[in-house]
Amino acid sequence: MEILHVSAECYPVAKVGGLGDVVGALPKYQQELGNFAKVIVPAYRTRYYETHEFDVVHQGGMWMGHGWYHFNVLKERSNELGFDLYLVEIPGLLDTPGVYGYSNDTERFLGFQIAVLDWINEWNHLPDVIHCHDHHTGLIPFLLSYGYKYDRLKEVPTVLTIHNAQYQGQFGWDKLYLLPAFDLWKSGQLDWNGAINPLAAAIKCAWRVTTVSPGYMEELHENAAGLEGLIRHESAKMVGILNGIDTAIWDPSTDHMLNHTYDIQEVAEGKAANKQLLCERFGFDTSLPLISFIGRLVGDKGADLLPEIIGKTIYDFPGEVNFLVLGSGDPHIEWSLQQTRYLVSHGFNLHIGYDESLSHLIYAGSDFLLMPSRVEPCGLNQMYALRYGTIPIVRSTGGLKDTVIDFGDPGGVGIRFVQPAGWDACAAVRRAVQLYNDQPNFRTVQQRGMHENHAWGTSAQRYLDMYSNMK
Ligand code: ADP
Ligand code: GLC
Repeated sequence: MEILHVSAECYPVAKVGGLGDVVGALPKYQQELGNFAKVIVPAYRTRYYETHEFDVVHQGGMWMGHGWYHFNVLKERSNELGFDLYLVEIPGLLDTPGVYGYSNDTERFLGFQIAVLDWINEWNHLPDVIHCHDHHTGLIPFLLSYGYKYDRLKEVPTVLTIHNAQYQGQFGWDKLYLLPAFDLWKSGQLDWNGAINPLAAAIKCAWRVTTVSPGYMEELHENAAGLEGLIRHESAKMVGILNGIDTAIWDPSTDHMLNHTYDIQEVAEGKAANKQLLCERFGFDTSLPLISFIGRLVGDKGADLLPEIIGKTIYDFPGEVNFLVLGSGDPHIEWSLQQTRYLVSHGFNLHIGYDESLSHLIYAGSDFLLMPSRVEPCGLNQMYALRYGTIPIVRSTGGLKDTVIDFGDPGGVGIRFVQPAGWDACAAVRRAVQLYNDQPNFRTVQQRGMHENHAWGTSAQRYLDMYSNMK
Protein backbone atom coordinates (compact mmCIF):
# COMPACT_ATOMS: atom_id res chain seq x y z
CA MET A 1 0.00 0.00 0.00
CA GLU A 2 1.27 3.49 -0.81
CA ILE A 3 0.64 6.07 1.92
CA LEU A 4 1.43 9.76 1.72
CA HIS A 5 1.66 11.55 5.08
CA VAL A 6 1.18 15.31 4.86
CA SER A 7 2.22 17.23 7.95
CA ALA A 8 3.62 20.50 9.30
CA GLU A 9 6.22 18.59 11.38
CA CYS A 10 8.39 15.51 11.04
CA TYR A 11 11.31 14.68 13.34
CA PRO A 12 14.24 15.28 12.75
CA VAL A 13 13.38 17.67 9.90
CA ALA A 14 11.16 19.97 11.93
CA LYS A 15 9.76 19.32 15.40
CA VAL A 16 7.85 21.49 17.83
CA GLY A 17 6.18 18.69 19.78
CA GLY A 18 4.72 15.21 19.56
CA LEU A 19 3.31 15.69 16.05
CA GLY A 20 6.89 15.73 14.80
CA ASP A 21 7.74 12.55 16.70
CA VAL A 22 4.68 10.72 15.35
CA VAL A 23 5.19 11.69 11.72
CA GLY A 24 8.90 10.82 12.00
CA ALA A 25 8.09 7.35 13.34
CA LEU A 26 4.76 5.97 12.08
CA PRO A 27 5.82 5.89 8.37
CA LYS A 28 9.00 4.02 9.31
CA TYR A 29 6.97 1.30 11.01
CA GLN A 30 4.51 1.22 8.10
CA GLN A 31 7.46 0.61 5.80
CA GLU A 32 8.65 -2.19 8.04
CA LEU A 33 5.21 -3.75 7.72
CA GLY A 34 5.73 -3.96 3.96
CA ASN A 35 4.20 -0.71 2.73
CA PHE A 36 5.49 2.28 0.85
CA ALA A 37 5.15 5.33 3.10
CA LYS A 38 6.17 8.84 2.06
CA VAL A 39 6.18 12.03 4.07
CA ILE A 40 5.88 15.58 2.79
CA VAL A 41 6.48 18.63 4.99
CA PRO A 42 7.30 22.31 4.40
CA ALA A 43 10.93 23.22 3.71
CA TYR A 44 11.46 25.53 6.67
CA ARG A 45 15.02 26.73 7.07
CA THR A 46 15.82 24.23 9.81
CA ARG A 47 19.18 22.68 10.55
CA TYR A 48 18.10 19.50 8.79
CA TYR A 49 17.29 21.42 5.61
CA GLU A 50 20.62 23.27 5.75
CA THR A 51 22.68 20.10 6.25
CA HIS A 52 21.10 17.66 3.78
CA GLU A 53 21.02 17.26 0.02
CA PHE A 54 17.88 17.27 -2.06
CA ASP A 55 16.80 16.81 -5.66
CA VAL A 56 14.08 18.92 -7.20
CA VAL A 57 11.33 16.52 -8.31
CA HIS A 58 8.60 18.98 -9.19
CA GLN A 59 8.26 22.69 -9.86
CA GLY A 60 5.13 24.77 -10.11
CA GLY A 61 3.44 28.04 -9.37
CA MET A 62 0.18 29.19 -7.83
CA TRP A 63 -1.95 32.26 -7.36
CA MET A 64 -2.98 32.86 -3.80
CA GLY A 65 -5.22 35.88 -3.73
CA HIS A 66 -3.26 38.56 -5.54
CA GLY A 67 0.12 36.93 -4.93
CA TRP A 68 1.94 34.59 -7.28
CA TYR A 69 4.17 31.99 -5.64
CA HIS A 70 6.68 29.70 -7.20
CA PHE A 71 7.28 26.37 -5.48
CA ASN A 72 9.57 23.34 -5.64
CA VAL A 73 9.07 19.85 -4.29
CA LEU A 74 12.38 18.42 -3.11
CA LYS A 75 13.27 14.80 -2.34
CA GLU A 76 15.88 14.01 0.28
CA ARG A 77 18.73 12.15 -1.35
CA SER A 78 20.14 9.76 1.25
CA ASN A 79 16.85 8.17 2.35
CA GLU A 80 18.31 7.97 5.87
CA LEU A 81 14.98 8.26 7.68
CA GLY A 82 13.61 4.89 6.64
CA PHE A 83 10.99 6.41 4.30
CA ASP A 84 10.99 8.83 1.37
CA LEU A 85 11.03 12.41 2.56
CA TYR A 86 9.77 15.30 0.42
CA LEU A 87 9.88 19.01 1.23
CA VAL A 88 7.85 21.85 -0.25
CA GLU A 89 9.87 24.97 -0.83
CA ILE A 90 7.89 28.21 -1.28
CA PRO A 91 10.09 31.32 -1.19
CA GLY A 92 8.37 34.11 0.69
CA LEU A 93 6.10 31.71 2.61
CA LEU A 94 7.79 28.62 3.98
CA ASP A 95 11.45 29.72 4.10
CA THR A 96 11.15 30.66 7.78
CA PRO A 97 13.46 29.55 10.61
CA GLY A 98 10.48 28.41 12.69
CA VAL A 99 7.45 26.24 12.08
CA TYR A 100 4.46 28.20 13.45
CA GLY A 101 3.55 31.55 14.88
CA TYR A 102 3.83 33.80 11.82
CA SER A 103 1.16 36.36 10.99
CA ASN A 104 0.67 34.72 7.59
CA ASP A 105 0.40 31.10 8.83
CA THR A 106 -2.93 30.80 6.99
CA GLU A 107 -1.25 31.61 3.66
CA ARG A 108 1.82 29.52 4.50
CA PHE A 109 -0.08 26.30 5.14
CA LEU A 110 -2.60 26.91 2.35
CA GLY A 111 0.28 27.35 -0.09
CA PHE A 112 1.83 24.14 1.25
CA GLN A 113 -1.37 22.16 0.70
CA ILE A 114 -1.92 23.47 -2.83
CA ALA A 115 1.68 22.63 -3.76
CA VAL A 116 1.21 19.07 -2.40
CA LEU A 117 -1.90 18.54 -4.54
CA ASP A 118 -0.28 19.96 -7.67
CA TRP A 119 2.64 17.60 -7.14
CA ILE A 120 0.44 14.52 -6.61
CA ASN A 121 -1.43 15.28 -9.78
CA GLU A 122 1.86 14.94 -11.67
CA TRP A 123 2.28 11.33 -10.54
CA ASN A 124 1.46 8.74 -13.16
CA HIS A 125 -0.41 6.76 -10.49
CA LEU A 126 -2.19 7.84 -7.30
CA PRO A 127 -1.42 7.06 -3.64
CA ASP A 128 -3.69 4.56 -1.88
CA VAL A 129 -4.27 7.06 0.89
CA ILE A 130 -3.38 10.63 1.79
CA HIS A 131 -2.96 10.82 5.55
CA CYS A 132 -3.32 14.41 6.80
CA HIS A 133 -2.19 15.49 10.25
CA ASP A 134 -3.91 18.32 12.14
CA HIS A 135 -5.46 21.51 10.81
CA HIS A 136 -2.40 22.63 8.82
CA THR A 137 -3.32 19.97 6.27
CA GLY A 138 -7.07 20.01 6.91
CA LEU A 139 -8.03 21.74 3.66
CA ILE A 140 -6.72 18.83 1.62
CA PRO A 141 -9.71 16.54 2.35
CA PHE A 142 -12.00 19.46 1.46
CA LEU A 143 -10.18 20.29 -1.80
CA LEU A 144 -10.08 16.62 -2.78
CA SER A 145 -13.75 16.08 -1.96
CA TYR A 146 -14.58 17.88 -5.21
CA GLY A 147 -11.37 16.96 -7.05
CA TYR A 148 -9.78 20.40 -6.70
CA LYS A 149 -8.44 21.31 -10.18
CA TYR A 150 -7.96 17.68 -11.12
CA ASP A 151 -10.95 15.42 -11.29
CA ARG A 152 -8.97 12.22 -10.92
CA LEU A 153 -7.80 13.23 -7.42
CA LYS A 154 -11.38 12.92 -6.18
CA GLU A 155 -10.86 9.18 -5.93
CA VAL A 156 -7.97 9.37 -3.45
CA PRO A 157 -9.02 8.29 0.06
CA THR A 158 -8.15 10.77 2.81
CA VAL A 159 -7.55 10.28 6.51
CA LEU A 160 -7.32 13.05 9.09
CA THR A 161 -5.54 12.44 12.37
CA ILE A 162 -6.46 14.91 15.09
CA HIS A 163 -3.43 15.38 17.30
CA ASN A 164 -5.00 18.26 19.16
CA ALA A 165 -8.48 19.67 18.57
CA GLN A 166 -7.71 22.83 20.53
CA TYR A 167 -5.91 24.12 17.45
CA GLN A 168 -8.23 24.49 14.44
CA GLY A 169 -6.55 27.06 12.18
CA GLN A 170 -9.71 29.20 11.77
CA PHE A 171 -9.68 32.31 9.63
CA GLY A 172 -12.34 34.78 8.54
CA TRP A 173 -14.47 34.53 5.41
CA ASP A 174 -12.80 37.76 4.29
CA LYS A 175 -9.85 35.54 3.35
CA LEU A 176 -11.90 33.30 1.09
CA TYR A 177 -10.19 34.88 -1.92
CA LEU A 178 -6.98 33.06 -0.91
CA LEU A 179 -8.52 29.66 -1.66
CA PRO A 180 -8.61 28.16 -5.14
CA ALA A 181 -11.98 28.80 -6.82
CA PHE A 182 -14.74 26.27 -6.02
CA ASP A 183 -18.52 26.08 -6.28
CA LEU A 184 -19.71 28.33 -3.51
CA TRP A 185 -22.52 25.97 -2.55
CA LYS A 186 -19.75 23.86 -1.00
CA SER A 187 -18.90 26.69 1.43
CA GLY A 188 -20.82 24.95 4.19
CA GLN A 189 -18.12 22.27 4.26
CA LEU A 190 -15.58 24.93 5.23
CA ASP A 191 -17.66 26.78 7.76
CA TRP A 192 -17.85 26.35 11.48
CA ASN A 193 -19.44 29.04 13.59
CA GLY A 194 -19.11 31.71 10.93
CA ALA A 195 -15.44 31.19 10.12
CA ILE A 196 -13.44 29.03 7.73
CA ASN A 197 -12.28 26.20 9.96
CA PRO A 198 -9.72 23.81 8.40
CA LEU A 199 -10.00 21.25 11.21
CA ALA A 200 -13.81 21.17 11.02
CA ALA A 201 -13.63 20.99 7.20
CA ALA A 202 -11.33 17.99 7.44
CA ILE A 203 -13.58 16.25 9.98
CA LYS A 204 -16.47 16.71 7.56
CA CYS A 205 -14.64 15.76 4.35
CA ALA A 206 -12.01 13.13 5.24
CA TRP A 207 -12.98 9.52 4.59
CA ARG A 208 -11.84 8.57 8.09
CA VAL A 209 -10.87 10.59 11.16
CA THR A 210 -8.66 9.33 13.95
CA THR A 211 -7.55 10.70 17.29
CA VAL A 212 -4.25 9.81 18.90
CA SER A 213 -5.77 7.82 21.76
CA PRO A 214 -9.14 6.12 22.40
CA GLY A 215 -9.55 8.08 25.65
CA TYR A 216 -9.25 11.40 23.81
CA MET A 217 -11.78 10.24 21.21
CA GLU A 218 -14.35 9.79 23.99
CA GLU A 219 -13.52 13.12 25.61
CA LEU A 220 -13.99 15.00 22.34
CA HIS A 221 -17.70 14.23 22.44
CA GLU A 222 -17.93 16.51 25.47
CA ASN A 223 -14.94 18.82 25.09
CA ALA A 224 -13.61 19.65 21.65
CA ALA A 225 -13.10 23.41 21.78
CA GLY A 226 -16.46 24.06 20.12
CA LEU A 227 -16.48 21.08 17.74
CA GLU A 228 -18.36 18.67 20.06
CA GLY A 229 -21.54 18.67 17.96
CA LEU A 230 -19.60 17.97 14.77
CA ILE A 231 -17.60 15.20 16.42
CA ARG A 232 -20.76 13.52 17.64
CA HIS A 233 -22.33 13.87 14.20
CA GLU A 234 -19.33 12.31 12.44
CA SER A 235 -18.58 9.69 15.10
CA ALA A 236 -19.33 6.75 12.78
CA LYS A 237 -16.18 7.42 10.77
CA MET A 238 -14.00 8.23 13.78
CA VAL A 239 -11.71 5.98 15.81
CA GLY A 240 -9.01 6.46 18.46
CA ILE A 241 -5.66 4.81 17.73
CA LEU A 242 -3.05 5.13 20.45
CA ASN A 243 0.30 6.61 19.40
CA GLY A 244 3.43 4.54 19.80
CA ILE A 245 7.02 5.62 20.31
CA ASP A 246 10.07 5.18 18.11
CA THR A 247 11.97 2.64 20.18
CA ALA A 248 15.08 2.99 18.02
CA ILE A 249 15.48 6.65 18.95
CA TRP A 250 14.08 6.40 22.47
CA ASP A 251 16.18 3.62 23.93
CA PRO A 252 18.27 4.27 27.06
CA SER A 253 20.69 1.49 26.11
CA THR A 254 21.67 3.05 22.76
CA ASP A 255 20.65 6.72 23.06
CA HIS A 256 23.48 8.67 21.44
CA MET A 257 22.42 11.83 23.28
CA LEU A 258 23.40 10.22 26.61
CA ASN A 259 26.91 9.91 28.01
CA HIS A 260 25.76 7.07 30.25
CA THR A 261 23.54 4.56 28.49
CA TYR A 262 21.86 1.77 30.49
CA ASP A 263 19.47 -1.11 30.16
CA ILE A 264 16.99 -2.61 32.58
CA GLN A 265 19.69 -4.74 34.30
CA GLU A 266 21.77 -1.70 35.21
CA VAL A 267 19.00 0.86 35.59
CA ALA A 268 19.94 1.94 39.12
CA GLU A 269 23.60 2.74 38.25
CA GLY A 270 22.74 4.11 34.80
CA LYS A 271 20.13 6.50 36.04
CA ALA A 272 22.33 7.55 38.97
CA ALA A 273 25.12 8.57 36.55
CA ASN A 274 22.69 10.64 34.48
CA LYS A 275 21.12 12.13 37.58
CA GLN A 276 24.57 13.15 38.77
CA LEU A 277 25.10 15.14 35.54
CA LEU A 278 21.72 16.84 35.88
CA CYS A 279 22.26 17.65 39.54
CA GLU A 280 25.70 19.15 38.85
CA ARG A 281 24.29 21.25 36.07
CA PHE A 282 21.24 22.49 37.98
CA GLY A 283 22.63 22.57 41.53
CA PHE A 284 20.65 19.74 43.14
CA ASP A 285 21.37 17.18 45.85
CA THR A 286 21.50 13.73 44.18
CA SER A 287 20.08 11.93 47.21
CA LEU A 288 16.68 13.64 46.89
CA PRO A 289 13.96 12.58 44.45
CA LEU A 290 14.11 14.59 41.24
CA ILE A 291 10.76 15.43 39.65
CA SER A 292 10.90 16.97 36.17
CA PHE A 293 8.56 18.56 33.67
CA ILE A 294 9.30 18.73 29.92
CA GLY A 295 6.97 20.45 27.52
CA ARG A 296 5.25 23.44 26.10
CA LEU A 297 4.54 25.97 28.85
CA VAL A 298 0.85 26.37 28.10
CA GLY A 299 -2.40 25.95 30.02
CA ASP A 300 -3.29 22.70 28.20
CA LYS A 301 -0.19 21.10 29.68
CA GLY A 302 -1.10 22.43 33.15
CA ALA A 303 2.16 24.39 33.11
CA ASP A 304 0.42 27.29 34.85
CA LEU A 305 -0.06 24.97 37.84
CA LEU A 306 3.67 24.34 38.19
CA PRO A 307 4.52 27.41 40.32
CA GLU A 308 1.85 26.38 42.85
CA ILE A 309 2.82 22.70 42.82
CA ILE A 310 6.53 23.45 43.15
CA GLY A 311 6.17 26.35 45.60
CA LYS A 312 3.77 24.53 47.91
CA THR A 313 5.69 21.25 47.93
CA ILE A 314 9.01 22.92 48.68
CA TYR A 315 7.38 25.08 51.36
CA ASP A 316 5.72 22.09 53.04
CA PHE A 317 8.67 19.71 52.64
CA PRO A 318 11.84 21.81 52.50
CA GLY A 319 14.94 19.85 51.56
CA GLU A 320 12.99 16.72 50.58
CA VAL A 321 12.53 17.04 46.84
CA ASN A 322 13.94 18.75 43.74
CA PHE A 323 12.05 20.03 40.69
CA LEU A 324 13.38 20.71 37.22
CA VAL A 325 11.45 22.29 34.33
CA LEU A 326 12.43 22.32 30.64
CA GLY A 327 10.14 24.21 28.32
CA SER A 328 9.07 27.40 26.68
CA GLY A 329 5.78 28.96 25.74
CA ASP A 330 3.39 31.42 27.32
CA PRO A 331 5.48 34.41 28.56
CA HIS A 332 3.33 34.74 31.71
CA ILE A 333 4.04 31.14 32.69
CA GLU A 334 7.73 31.56 31.91
CA TRP A 335 7.78 34.68 34.07
CA SER A 336 5.96 33.08 37.01
CA LEU A 337 8.33 30.10 36.90
CA GLN A 338 11.31 32.49 36.97
CA GLN A 339 9.70 34.21 39.98
CA THR A 340 9.18 30.86 41.69
CA ARG A 341 12.83 29.98 41.24
CA TYR A 342 13.79 33.28 42.78
CA LEU A 343 11.40 32.83 45.70
CA VAL A 344 12.13 29.22 46.62
CA SER A 345 15.89 29.55 45.98
CA HIS A 346 16.62 25.82 46.65
CA GLY A 347 15.14 22.68 45.17
CA PHE A 348 13.91 24.17 41.89
CA ASN A 349 15.63 25.08 38.65
CA LEU A 350 14.54 25.55 35.07
CA HIS A 351 15.76 25.82 31.52
CA ILE A 352 13.58 28.02 29.35
CA GLY A 353 13.93 26.97 25.72
CA TYR A 354 13.84 23.96 23.44
CA ASP A 355 16.71 21.50 23.86
CA GLU A 356 16.37 18.01 22.42
CA SER A 357 19.50 16.53 24.02
CA LEU A 358 18.73 18.01 27.44
CA SER A 359 15.29 16.40 27.20
CA HIS A 360 16.92 12.97 26.74
CA LEU A 361 19.16 13.59 29.76
CA ILE A 362 16.14 14.59 31.84
CA TYR A 363 14.19 11.44 30.88
CA ALA A 364 17.29 9.42 31.82
CA GLY A 365 18.32 11.23 35.01
CA SER A 366 15.00 12.04 36.70
CA ASP A 367 13.13 9.86 39.15
CA PHE A 368 9.67 11.13 38.18
CA LEU A 369 8.14 13.02 35.26
CA LEU A 370 5.25 15.32 36.11
CA MET A 371 2.44 15.85 33.55
CA PRO A 372 -0.40 17.87 35.09
CA SER A 373 -2.12 18.25 31.69
CA ARG A 374 -5.62 19.68 31.41
CA VAL A 375 -5.85 18.28 27.88
CA GLU A 376 -3.59 15.51 26.58
CA PRO A 377 -4.71 13.89 23.33
CA CYS A 378 -2.01 11.24 23.74
CA GLY A 379 1.23 12.47 25.27
CA LEU A 380 4.50 10.85 24.35
CA ASN A 381 6.55 12.08 27.31
CA GLN A 382 5.03 9.56 29.70
CA MET A 383 5.91 6.71 27.31
CA TYR A 384 9.49 7.96 26.93
CA ALA A 385 9.68 8.31 30.72
CA LEU A 386 8.50 4.70 31.25
CA ARG A 387 11.11 3.40 28.85
CA TYR A 388 13.85 5.36 30.65
CA GLY A 389 12.80 4.11 34.11
CA THR A 390 11.30 7.45 35.14
CA ILE A 391 7.97 7.10 36.90
CA PRO A 392 5.25 9.31 35.38
CA ILE A 393 2.96 11.41 37.60
CA VAL A 394 0.01 12.23 35.39
CA ARG A 395 -3.41 13.79 35.49
CA SER A 396 -5.92 11.21 34.46
CA THR A 397 -6.97 12.50 31.04
CA GLY A 398 -6.89 11.49 27.35
CA GLY A 399 -3.89 9.41 26.40
CA LEU A 400 -2.39 9.69 29.90
CA LYS A 401 -5.34 7.73 31.25
CA ASP A 402 -4.87 5.13 28.49
CA THR A 403 -1.16 4.57 29.16
CA VAL A 404 -0.46 5.06 32.88
CA ILE A 405 -1.98 2.78 35.53
CA ASP A 406 -1.54 3.97 39.11
CA PHE A 407 0.94 1.95 41.16
CA GLY A 408 -1.78 1.39 43.76
CA ASP A 409 -3.60 -0.78 41.18
CA PRO A 410 -2.46 -4.15 39.80
CA GLY A 411 0.28 -3.73 37.18
CA GLY A 412 0.63 -0.02 38.01
CA VAL A 413 3.56 1.91 36.55
CA GLY A 414 2.90 5.49 37.61
CA ILE A 415 0.99 7.91 39.79
CA ARG A 416 -2.36 9.34 38.74
CA PHE A 417 -4.41 12.24 40.01
CA VAL A 418 -7.80 13.46 38.86
CA GLN A 419 -8.32 17.18 39.30
CA PRO A 420 -6.51 19.73 37.11
CA ALA A 421 -5.62 21.66 40.25
CA GLY A 422 -2.53 22.36 42.30
CA TRP A 423 -3.82 20.66 45.46
CA ASP A 424 -4.47 17.34 43.74
CA ALA A 425 -1.14 17.44 41.92
CA CYS A 426 0.59 18.22 45.24
CA ALA A 427 -1.02 15.14 46.80
CA ALA A 428 0.31 13.06 43.87
CA VAL A 429 3.77 14.54 44.36
CA ARG A 430 3.64 13.60 48.05
CA ARG A 431 2.82 10.02 47.04
CA ALA A 432 5.83 10.13 44.70
CA VAL A 433 8.14 11.20 47.53
CA GLN A 434 6.79 8.43 49.76
CA LEU A 435 7.33 5.90 46.98
CA TYR A 436 10.89 7.13 46.46
CA ASN A 437 11.56 6.68 50.17
CA ASP A 438 10.40 3.07 49.90
CA GLN A 439 13.20 2.02 47.52
CA PRO A 440 12.25 -1.67 47.02
CA ASN A 441 8.73 -0.68 45.95
CA PHE A 442 10.08 2.22 43.88
CA ARG A 443 12.38 -0.16 41.99
CA THR A 444 9.53 -2.61 41.37
CA VAL A 445 7.30 0.07 39.86
CA GLN A 446 10.24 1.42 37.82
CA GLN A 447 11.12 -2.01 36.39
CA ARG A 448 7.51 -2.74 35.55
CA GLY A 449 7.32 0.48 33.54
CA MET A 450 10.52 -0.33 31.68
CA HIS A 451 9.14 -3.72 30.71
CA GLU A 452 6.10 -2.17 29.01
CA ASN A 453 6.09 -2.08 25.24
CA HIS A 454 4.85 1.14 23.66
CA ALA A 455 6.49 0.62 20.27
CA TRP A 456 4.51 1.56 17.18
CA GLY A 457 3.99 -2.00 15.84
CA THR A 458 0.39 -2.65 16.91
CA SER A 459 -0.90 0.86 16.26
CA ALA A 460 0.88 1.08 12.89
CA GLN A 461 -0.99 -2.09 11.93
CA ARG A 462 -4.29 -0.61 13.11
CA TYR A 463 -3.83 2.31 10.72
CA LEU A 464 -3.14 -0.13 7.88
CA ASP A 465 -6.27 -2.12 8.71
CA MET A 466 -8.29 1.08 8.69
CA TYR A 467 -6.87 2.20 5.31
CA SER A 468 -7.79 -1.19 3.85
CA ASN A 469 -11.40 -0.84 4.97
CA MET A 470 -12.21 2.57 3.55
CA LYS A 471 -14.92 2.96 0.98
P1 ADP B 1 2.86 17.97 22.58
O1 ADP B 1 2.99 17.49 21.20
O2 ADP B 1 1.46 18.33 22.95
O3 ADP B 1 3.80 19.09 22.90
P2 ADP B 1 3.81 15.31 23.38
O4 ADP B 1 3.91 14.68 24.73
O5 ADP B 1 3.07 14.54 22.37
O6 ADP B 1 3.22 16.77 23.59
O7 ADP B 1 5.25 15.50 22.76
C1 ADP B 1 6.16 16.44 23.19
C2 ADP B 1 7.49 16.15 22.51
O8 ADP B 1 8.24 17.36 22.48
C3 ADP B 1 8.34 15.17 23.26
O9 ADP B 1 9.25 14.56 22.34
C4 ADP B 1 9.10 16.08 24.24
O10 ADP B 1 10.29 15.47 24.71
C5 ADP B 1 9.39 17.24 23.33
N1 ADP B 1 9.57 18.55 23.99
C6 ADP B 1 8.62 19.38 24.45
N2 ADP B 1 9.17 20.51 24.93
C7 ADP B 1 10.51 20.37 24.78
C8 ADP B 1 11.62 21.22 25.09
N3 ADP B 1 11.46 22.41 25.64
N4 ADP B 1 12.85 20.78 24.76
C9 ADP B 1 13.01 19.55 24.17
N5 ADP B 1 12.01 18.71 23.88
C10 ADP B 1 10.77 19.13 24.16
C1 GLC C 1 -0.38 16.74 20.11
C2 GLC C 1 -0.94 16.42 21.48
C3 GLC C 1 -0.17 15.35 22.20
C4 GLC C 1 0.14 14.18 21.28
C5 GLC C 1 0.85 14.70 20.05
C6 GLC C 1 1.22 13.59 19.08
O1 GLC C 1 0.64 17.66 20.14
O2 GLC C 1 -1.03 17.60 22.27
O3 GLC C 1 -0.90 14.90 23.32
O4 GLC C 1 0.94 13.25 21.94
O5 GLC C 1 0.05 15.59 19.38
O6 GLC C 1 0.09 12.92 18.61
